[in-house]
Amino acid sequence: MAAGKGTRMKSALPKVLHKLAGRSLLQHVLQSAAGLGADGIVVITGHGAEQVEASAHAANLRFVRQMPQLGTGHAVLQAVPVLHDFGTTLILNGDVPLIEPATARALIASCGGTQLALLTIALDDPSGYGRVLRGDPAGRDATEGGRVQGIVEHKDATPMQRQIREVYTGVMAAPTASLKRWLAALKNDNTQGEYYLTDVVAMAVAEGMPVTATLAPSDTEVLGVNSPVQLADLERRYQRARAAALMEAGVRLADPARFDVRGELQCGADVEIDVNCIFEGRVELGDGVRIGANCMVRNAVIGRGAVIHPFTHIDGEALGASVGAGALVGPFARLRPGAVLAEDVHIGNFVEVKNASLGRGAKANHLAYIGDASVGERVNFGAGSIVANYDGANKHRTVIGADVHVGSNCVLVAPLTLGDGATIGGGSTIAKDAPAGQLTVARARQVTLAGWKRPVKKK
Ligand code: UD1
Ligand code: CA
Repeated sequence: MAAGKGTRMKSALPKVLHKLAGRSLLQHVLQSAAGLGADGIVVITGHGAEQVEASAHAANLRFVRQMPQLGTGHAVLQAVPVLHDFGTTLILNGDVPLIEPATARALIASCGGTQLALLTIALDDPSGYGRVLRGDPAGRDATEGGRVQGIVEHKDATPMQRQIREVYTGVMAAPTASLKRWLAALKNDNTQGEYYLTDVVAMAVAEGMPVTATLAPSDTEVLGVNSPVQLADLERRYQRARAAALMEAGVRLADPARFDVRGELQCGADVEIDVNCIFEGRVELGDGVRIGANCMVRNAVIGRGAVIHPFTHIDGEALGASVGAGALVGPFARLRPGAVLAEDVHIGNFVEVKNASLGRGAKANHLAYIGDASVGERVNFGAGSIVANYDGANKHRTVIGADVHVGSNCVLVAPLTLGDGATIGGGSTIAKDAPAGQLTVARARQVTLAGWKRPVKKK
């Protein structure tokens, strides 16, 4: 179910498209559903349908639209035409993102094609959730223990019922044929004037169908996202779990509460990560890598023993970026797509590298731009020097041979080749190839004007 507006988010973005750990809530749910071996996955869209549909990816995926959105029961009703008349339907909430496949599988097993299986959990603060009503048909104990009788939504619950801590998680497995029958009979005579999916529980009970309530293994798995506060809370729980798993594997995090992974992070042995680092996409950190505070690393491979100093921004985007073993990067450095640093390269503060390779031991320690270039081994690229790779229409490549020394404040106008061992005098603008092994300078000669006097102010 992904048709709701998510009013409580107070956002123009449909709720299920809000991101948790870098992925939309809906995509998390689809990821969990993908491994269940279902005949098909149906996503019910409505509010922002086009946007939601464009963002959803899974095999065997289809969409049905719910227009207008008259409640969760009405939502599932829209899927009825595309469901088989046999088998089991698993219903997942688009705003309950962290459900584990194993939990869903257990619920499907407990349904067994013959029972209505609900996933529930006991919460210290159950407010907002549908409460699970238990008791026996004789009504001896209407609120605790005993068999499930129904679900009452928070807004419709009596003060007594609101004391119940066992809540419905939004996940159920039902025999499809029965589900279709119940949905057709739903009414909207409740506080919100909505067709509640949760009303099918009382219908199953009335038909004598057994209703099972399976307790979810952890609350993080089943917490719903209705507001920015709940989204942030779930994000932090997710990150704490990721941090704990990494630390379990030996990664040393300075503070697990100030650590974020939004994708896949692979770490070797003896990796150290200081506070406030963000890892996005696919990131690999080799053995002994150290990441300083406040770094952002996305789609990148960092080789063994490399040190990324604080405030460094590495974003490989689609091309990727790589840092060789033993390299030093930062502080305040920026590596962009296609930056390929060989072993022992040094990239210092305020240096930007884009679509460029630097050979082993090459250094650009201060205030430089290296784009669309290949830089040889042991090159020293001076402070304030840049590669002018863009002529206003096209980008051109610069080739810098091994052991080249580029002085400070040079402009290397591409396309350009600097031969092995060339030296470029500081302050030069180089627009033609420079020969190997020689000094090339391109700037006005220094002159001193003898007897020159400073102007004085007229009185
Ligand atoms: C729902 C359950 C509640 C449960 C809670 C668990 C109902 C009536 N209540 O409440 O018992 O404790 O989830 O998180 O089912 N949606 C549609 N179409 C609609 C309305 C909603 O597709 O017309 C979708 C939403 O996009 C969302 C999901 O259904 O993904 C749940 O809707 P929401 O309004 O958040 O339900 P809750 O009030 O949280
Ligand atoms: Ca919800």
